Amino acid sequence: MEQSLILAPSSYGLQPYKFVVVTDENLKKELTPAAYGQTQIADCSHLVVVAYKKVLTDADVEHFVDRIVEVRNAPRESFKDYEQTMKTSAQKAIDKGTIETWNSRQAYLALGFLLETAALLEIDACPMEGFNPAEFNRILELEDYSSVALCAVGYRDRENDWLANLPKVRFLKEELIDRR
Ligand SMILES: Cc1cc2nc3c(=O)[nH]c(=O)nc-3n(C[C@H](O)[C@H](O)[C@H](O)COP(=O)(O)O)c2cc1C
Repeated sequence: MEQSLILAPSSYGLQPYKFVVVTDENLKKELTPAAYGQTQIADCSHLVVVAYKKVLTDADVEHFVDRIVEVRNAPRESFKDYEQTMKTSAQKAIDKGTIETWNSRQAYLALGFLLETAALLEIDACPMEGFNPAEFNRILELEDYSSVALCAVGYRDRENDWLANLPKVRFLKEELIDRR
């Protein structure tokens, strides 16, 4: 499942995020009050904290280009224009004050891939926004990143999970899909 996070697409491929996978029982207990006592935090086997990068520096772009060169064994100079385009886009977003929105959107895409992959593997996953990011950042000592969403992952408690077999409540296809 971690591979779904790693393979998620992102704008320019910049991957301005990271994922803190918490399995330590004490740490999950410590985080629970910061998620308003929601029991999934401690009950799940893996708590994935989705965190986006608060800025995007030239060094981040260069780090990414280094990785392309390494993986594709290509000359660095061939990425000069692409590198400059990415740096300009990042700077524009910083100047407009939209860098955190841009980066967190990329992080949500990865969360979507995690949810889909968990479903395909028949593992339950609960996406969560009901938590205090500042508290999570403090406890997990996140500085350059900020938590934006959680995903509690684990195998279903078949006997006690009364929600599991209820039908999905979704609007009709005609309402959600507008064909032109
Ligand atoms: C962005 C987001 C935030 C959510 N936050 C929470 C949460 O804090 N706690 C929770 O129990 N469920 C949370 N959910 C789960 C939704 O309540 C759930 O997906 C929705 O009720 C539909 O449920 P179903 O997919 O099981 O049909 C969240 C879902 C999303 C996508």
